[in-house]
Amino acid sequence: MFKRIMILVGIPVLIGVTLAGFQPLMAQSDDAIKTAQEERKKRFKASGASMKALYREYLPAQDYQAIKAEATVLVKWAKDMPEAFPFGSDSDNDEAKPNIWTDFEGFKSAALVFEEASLELQNAAEQNDISLVKTAIGGVGASCKACHKKYRKK
Ligand code: HEC
Repeated sequence: MFKRIMILVGIPVLIGVTLAGFQPLMAQSDDAIKTAQEERKKRFKASGASMKALYREYLPAQDYQAIKAEATVLVKWAKDMPEAFPFGSDSDNDEAKPNIWTDFEGFKSAALVFEEASLELQNAAEQNDISLVKTAIGGVGASCKACHKKYRKK
């Protein structure tokens, strides 16, 4: 058991050292992996619902308050996202591609693009500018798609 833990801990540490000091969060157990998968799916579903609400309700209603609130939630999720993918938390019944962990820097960059797009939406809502908001929502959607193309199984 101890040996197994050392191996689980050792591999990401080694990879982390190789990748200039970076190391993805380590998964401790099958349970931890399952929880991480369930939690992130919940948050992804919620962000899908956010996009729907933004396009179908808040944008047509020009509800800047609601738009800003959704954007704030998306920013938070973008910041948390890398931690929602602990090392090796892929499995057959999950849509996370293994290249998330072989290219974790790239994955983090994709999450950062999403964060910046969401911040832009927040700013646009603060300016009460509907055309800026529209463009910014498009930018958020593009950041979702860009990451899915690279890191999510179809
Ligand atoms: C940095 C990468 C990244 C970004 C950005 C991203 N996603 Fe995802 N998304 C993923 C990955 C990876 C999965 C697969 C997760 C899994 O199965 O564990 C996923 C899964 C999903 C799912 C399926 C969840 C389920 O029930 O299985 C939905 C819906 C989704 N994303 C919507 C979105 C939306 C909407 C956005 C933007 C607002 C977004 N995603 C942004 C990487 C990303």
